[in-house]
Amino acid sequence: ASSDALERALGLIASIPDHPTPGVVFRDLTPLFADGAAFADVVDALIAPFAGRFDAVAGLEARGFLLAGAIAMRTGAGLVPIRKQGKLPRATEAQSYDLEYGSATIEAHRGDLPAGSRVLLVDDVLATGGTLGAAIRVADRLGWDVVGASVVLEIDALDGRAVVSGDGAARIVSLF
Ligand code: PRP
Repeated sequence: ASSDALERALGLIASIPDHPTPGVVFRDLTPLFADGAAFADVVDALIAPFAGRFDAVAGLEARGFLLAGAIAMRTGAGLVPIRKQGKLPRATEAQSYDLEYGSATIEAHRGDLPAGSRVLLVDDVLATGGTLGAAIRVADRLGWDVVGASVVLEIDALDGRAVVSGDGAARIVSLF
């Protein structure tokens, strides 16, 4: 996609102050997803840095699922979900991470992918980096070869990239 097309897609992302809690500006990608051309442009841009280098795409719950499904269909890659704790029915590898208040846990099935699979991680937003950092630890424990992570939007001020690097670091590409 041209940079103009990506700028148009960025312009469709809504910012909602004080959601879900005071002081947080929530980035809502649903208007972007609702626009077919913008969605396709963004999906292609998420793929481009890693094209031909991954066998599967792992989507981070929940909005990462939407992107991962599209990436899988566009590239022929397989798809695995990395879910919030308690949703997956079989044995998993799990990792907890800190939230502003409390903590959360994400997990992925053991055995959905063979060890050594080349995996691209995908999410909509990189904020504090807690989610992506935990996903990389899960992926490492499952023996996946993480080729990188693609996200649509990075909140620079939160420096989530540094948190993820501290977790062992794959290559992170953010479109915006
Ligand atoms: C949001 C977003 C990322 C994560 C980023 O998901 O979609 O997955 O937060 O934040 P972080 O870098 O600070 O970890 P959310 O926790 O709202 O879950 P949901 O998509 O299931 O609603």
